[in-house]
Amino acid sequence: MKEKDVRALFLEYFAGKGHKVYDSMPLVPDDPTLLFTNAGMVQFKDIFTGRIPIPSPNIATSAQTCIRAGGKHNDLENVGYTARHHTLFEMLGNFSFGAYFKKEAIAYAWEFVTEVLGFDKSVLYVTIHESDEEAFELWSKHIDTARIKRMGNKDNFWQMGDVGPCGPCSEIFVDQGAEFFNGPEDYFGGDGDRFLEIWNLVFMQFERDKEGNLKPLPKPSIDTGMGLERVVALLEGKHSNFDSSLFMPLIAKVEEITRQTYIYESGASFRVIADHARSVAFLLAQGVNFDKEGRGYVLRRILRRAIRHGYLLGLREPFVYQVVGCVCENMGAHYRYLLEKQQVVMQQCKAEELRFFETIENGMNLFNKELEKLKDEKPNQLFSGEVAFKLYDTYGFPLDLTQDMLRENGFGVDVDSFEICMKAQKEQAKANWKGSGDSVKEGDFKLLLSEFGVNEFVGYEKTEAQSRILALLDANLQRVESIKKDEMGFILLDRTPFYPESGGPVGDKGVLMHNNDKIAEILDTKKYFGLNISQVKAV
Ligand code: ALA
Repeated sequence: MKEKDVRALFLEYFAGKGHKVYDSMPLVPDDPTLLFTNAGMVQFKDIFTGRIPIPSPNIATSAQTCIRAGGKHNDLENVGYTARHHTLFEMLGNFSFGAYFKKEAIAYAWEFVTEVLGFDKSVLYVTIHESDEEAFELWSKHIDTARIKRMGNKDNFWQMGDVGPCGPCSEIFVDQGAEFFNGPEDYFGGDGDRFLEIWNLVFMQFERDKEGNLKPLPKPSIDTGMGLERVVALLEGKHSNFDSSLFMPLIAKVEEITRQTYIYESGASFRVIADHARSVAFLLAQGVNFDKEGRGYVLRRILRRAIRHGYLLGLREPFVYQVVGCVCENMGAHYRYLLEKQQVVMQQCKAEELRFFETIENGMNLFNKELEKLKDEKPNQLFSGEVAFKLYDTYGFPLDLTQDMLRENGFGVDVDSFEICMKAQKEQAKANWKGSGDSVKEGDFKLLLSEFGVNEFVGYEKTEAQSRILALLDANLQRVESIKKDEMGFILLDRTPFYPESGGPVGDKGVLMHNNDKIAEILDTKKYFGLNISQVKAV
């Protein structure tokens, strides 16, 4: 059974029970407390809490794309090294807004798993919250009580984020068999892979506020989430999601690009690339762009992590974009926008890859030199925060990438000194910008906006561009025709590849060429009222 069948069966089953089928909402939610949509219930959050009225019908179902690569639910560092973790996955869910509660939720889940998906009852187990007598009673009508396990808050209390709807939950597990899984943690309730959780039924009863208090929701509700990738893998008889038909075409693409054969035991890099290409494809297609902060920075980190794994496999030029293309083709039948945006998404990805490939070699050399020092001279110490900062600032290695590379060697980064360097650099950047003339006031750039409108940023597609100078200002923000050698000023280009800082660390630096001669250095770039303005020094 393929992913589209499982998805369709799920939605049809719940539609047949009167649920309204909702489309997947965007990965970027309209909710500042969440980095990304991390569960199917996010689009219904305000209904659960009573902030918006309960719709009719008051029961819903969806297949929701989710990202767990930051914030409360963050799986990023496990991806590639386990059989089940992904940055992006699809969550199948049914929801009740004060309509049905535990009894029906449990009965529906049981019927779907045993009768529609056809799992044998002999492989099924469930967990409940340790205090939930009602769930125990209800489950005991379907399953032998010896297969019901009580667990504490850590495992069986679910919440969306630090604040928001939450409640005790009950999870359904599939036993994959002792013949394949016999590690010390492969018992029911252990951390091994033998007993695989496929479905989480949350009995939504509370809302957690900023102070951590739980207040009852207007109506007890139901929120469930079943991992599509896991179920597909199980139904296809695979012991890893990556071996399923959802991921193998992507891994095959990596094999083709690297001309290497994927072997499960040593194939973490293949899996990381396959997984990360999915997030990159969806985020770019939904309009998230590479950035120096926020969600765009998570996207950049995901891509750079994939690039580094390609580098480990011997690749020295952009390649992730090809896997991204493959994602668009494979998933485009259900997510049409992936096909519609395929070409531009691939271009954006390739341009960003080019940026990192320019610096990765030197960065890796610096990293390896420092790592050797650690191994030889200071085996019990942390990796220098200054070097980690240089890797970040000069070579574009996000801190968590450096940490990831070190984890494989059993080392950590001196994060405190990294943070000190980061703070100092921010202050320096501010001082440099201001130092060009105390008269620089943001308001002065407003005139340019009314005269020229917003200029075009082309830096997602390319790192060089042909541009026209729309306006040149001296250090005192006076409009001028030219700037003397070694003097500073500001420039507004009609189209610019320089990325502007807007609250994050630093804007792009670079050079300005005219007829093959360097005429100015770009010292920094910032955004003012939507205008992308670079600080220049004439040479
Ligand atoms: N919201 C619940 C989860 O994400 C179903 O597990």
